[in-house]
Amino acid sequence: MRIIALMNQKGGVGKTTTTVNLGAALAEAGKRVCLIDLDPQAHLTINYGVEPNPDICSLYDVLVNERSFLEAVHKVMDGSIALVPSSIDLAAAEVELVSVLGREKLLKERIEAAQHDFEYILLDCPPSLGLLTLNALAVADEVIIPMQPHFFALQGVAKLLETVQLVGKRINPKLRVSGIVLTMFDSQTKLSSEVVAELKSFIDAAQGKPLPWAKAVIFKSKIRRNIKLAESPSFGQSILTYEPTSNGATDYRALAREVMAMSEPAAEQPAPPAPVELRVNSAIDPSKLAAANVELPPGKLPVVSCQERKEADLKHKHTPSPSFTGN
Ligand SMILES: Nc1ncnc2c1ncn2[C@@H]1O[C@H](COP(=O)(O)OP(=O)(O)OP(=O)(O)O)[C@@H](O)[C@H]1O
Ligand SMILES: [Mg+2]
Repeated sequence: MRIIALMNQKGGVGKTTTTVNLGAALAEAGKRVCLIDLDPQAHLTINYGVEPNPDICSLYDVLVNERSFLEAVHKVMDGSIALVPSSIDLAAAEVELVSVLGREKLLKERIEAAQHDFEYILLDCPPSLGLLTLNALAVADEVIIPMQPHFFALQGVAKLLETVQLVGKRINPKLRVSGIVLTMFDSQTKLSSEVVAELKSFIDAAQGKPLPWAKAVIFKSKIRRNIKLAESPSFGQSILTYEPTSNGATDYRALAREVMAMSEPAAEQPAPPAPVELRVNSAIDPSKLAAANVELPPGKLPVVSCQERKEADLKHKHTPSPSFTGN
């Protein structure tokens, strides 16, 4: 099992978008995935169509009311993804837990006590370095940093890495930064490539040193700016179901393969394309196919879906149906 915190104290850099869609791509690859919303803004929760109201068992109940981790797990996307939702109450948790001993390890205790068999747990952190983020870092094995390639982003990352190092020393020695993923990437701009180069030299300088980011990678899969990624949350969907052939879906599938390959090298290969079946719309006149030199495989009848059949029938209500038959 891998527990990965998606973390960056800077707001709006793509933490939630990456949690939603990396999670969906891992689930699509057949992994058992749980997503935990640690942000009182509850964007991850809303993205998967769950209402962040105090009546449902949420992360707040797990942390403050000692409810079990599994009680707070909600199945979304036809049961293919498990989600622990946030609620607005979570904003008060930092204050309510102020006198609780070991408050930074509450999530770790609850997850460890649960009998679950998730292969990937992704933690969507809020844009701050408070108690909720600390709880994420205390239970995570690794941190993935979503980052927009801006000039000031590098300064922010240095601060973030310092925090990871501190948590590593004091609370969670196994914690490491496994990678940085560039989001809202525009390969056309000079700034993007300059930021990548600078990041790379920063990470290279750590190699061989006992620093938690010494083995971090800059993921080859960059997440391009894609409006479909911004649209999909309002439909309660991930990009994989909302627009499966968009750049956003392609990029997050590629990122998932890279993430899986870190622990299972065979996962790097893209899935072979599905065999293509020749489909001929029954509305097309066969003589036009012949004129365009389109040959049908011998002995094979073209496949025509019911929907296509219906549309064709409507269109040709008063003309004889083409000689094709289909199912
Ligand atoms: N690759 C992308 N292309 C276009 N829009 C994107 C992309 N990634 C994220 N966005 C949009 O940018 C905005 C911020 O993204 P997101 O909410 O994922 O960031 P965040 O780091 O989780 O923010 P916060 O710090 O507030 O939690 C959202 O409106 C999201 O839809
Ligand atoms: Mg967010």
